[in-house]
Amino acid sequence: MNKLGKKLSLSISIAIICIITFSILLNKYFLPKYYLHEMKGNLESVTETIGSINKKDFINAVPELEKKYNVTIVYEQTNEDINSFNDSLRDNLDRKQVTLNKFWVTPDTLRKVENGKKVNKLYDQGKLKSSFLSSFMNKGNLFVLVGLSIAHFNDAAKVINMLYIYVLGIAVVIILLLVWLLTKKMTDPLKELKEVSEEIAELKFKKALKFKKAHVQTNDEIEELAYSINIMSDKLKKAHEDLLKKNENLKTFMADINHELKTPLSVIQIYAQGLKDGLDDGTYTDTILKQTKNISSLIEDLLNYSRIERAVFTKEKFNLFQLFQECLSKYDLECRTKNINVSVSNKVKGEMRVDADKKKIEMVFNNLISNAIKYTQNQKIDIAFAESGGQVLFTIQNGANIDDKKIEKVWEPFYVIESSRNKNVSGTGLGLAIVKSILERHQLDFGVLHQEGYIQFYIYFKRIP
Ligand SMILES: Nc1ncnc2c1ncn2[C@@H]1O[C@H](COP(=O)(O)OP(=O)(O)OP(=O)(O)O)[C@@H](O)[C@H]1O
Ligand SMILES: [Mg+2]
Repeated sequence: MNKLGKKLSLSISIAIICIITFSILLNKYFLPKYYLHEMKGNLESVTETIGSINKKDFINAVPELEKKYNVTIVYEQTNEDINSFNDSLRDNLDRKQVTLNKFWVTPDTLRKVENGKKVNKLYDQGKLKSSFLSSFMNKGNLFVLVGLSIAHFNDAAKVINMLYIYVLGIAVVIILLLVWLLTKKMTDPLKELKEVSEEIAELKFKKALKFKKAHVQTNDEIEELAYSINIMSDKLKKAHEDLLKKNENLKTFMADINHELKTPLSVIQIYAQGLKDGLDDGTYTDTILKQTKNISSLIEDLLNYSRIERAVFTKEKFNLFQLFQECLSKYDLECRTKNINVSVSNKVKGEMRVDADKKKIEMVFNNLISNAIKYTQNQKIDIAFAESGGQVLFTIQNGANIDDKKIEKVWEPFYVIESSRNKNVSGTGLGLAIVKSILERHQLDFGVLHQEGYIQFYIYFKRIP
């Protein structure tokens, strides 16, 4: 038997042994005395009733009292001849089918009763295995006997106690069997849960989930526990995978930074050497200056990116459309100089209030607008605000031709589409990574779509009343 079963059967068996031992002791020592005490109480009630009524009423009430209290009542005129007095009493008792082996009222008892005292006597009937408990009292010159027969308890108790011992034996066997079955039912799923937990502890989610994911159906707390472990396992697996992915991303990120910094630095190095060697054709300093600008903007972007990852977001309620218009107005001049046509449509009814970090949302808009201006291939930018399922759907689209397979990569840090790099318009490739980080931390739905020569970025903002 398993540990739980042993513990359970031991405690239940001890409890049953205690109860039965207690019952045996009770039967042996306490019950006979208690029984006698109760019977005496019974007689007491009868004698009190008799004492409270007159002689005539008493004689009439005898049958009723006998029936009510289950006693035998006889009475006799007191007689100086104690032998004939006892004989008469005995005859009276015989008439009521109470035949006693041993019964004798002593002259002393008779005197006491004549003097108005109540006397109780217990007559052991020897082999009849019973006693006759009697109470004597005086009722207007009548000697009254109220008695009842009491079975000897000790023998009965012995038999009952023997039976108890057999019951105890059978009960213990039944309990052991039941406990064994019950604990087996309980511990089998627990064993499974233990194995699953051990595997989770070793971060072996695949095995734990694929083959051993707790499938316990016990309809009780164990099933609830299994359910919680499954949820925990799923969540841990996801968290673990996220961490692994982040770790992987971090490695790529570090390699990218290395590369992004090395390229301009080696260009600077070559051109500085050229200057030193007197090879300058008048463009060397400009190239060096351009590369230093690149490095400084890269560092600026990197700092921004890492700040966003760690920043504490402070939410406030503001008008989204108003913020967007303020952002767009800063690019007015640039659009006009580059001859870019910007159209803004707003189909949202009422005020567009949102609860978010205003500065960060401003960064999102700035990045998306500046990208659209930088990369549009048809000199057109279409911006729209619309209502969608109680949310505000913001879209910004411009002409672009991008490989569909690479579209999702635009969110990755340092990712720059080749055609943009060639045109020399792209930056460090951190802008959309920052946008992604901000939107994710706001738990907003967002994404990018590409179709028929267009690229569209969309965000669902949660509107508040
Ligand atoms: N509106 C757009 N139209 C076409 N291509 C885009 C658009 N927005 C982003 N891209 C492509 O995605 C790449 C990543 O954009 P992201 O904003 O992250 O970087 P970036 O603009 O190159 O540099 P940064 O924003 O850090 O100055 C861009 O280099 C560009 O190739
Ligand atoms: Mg950008």
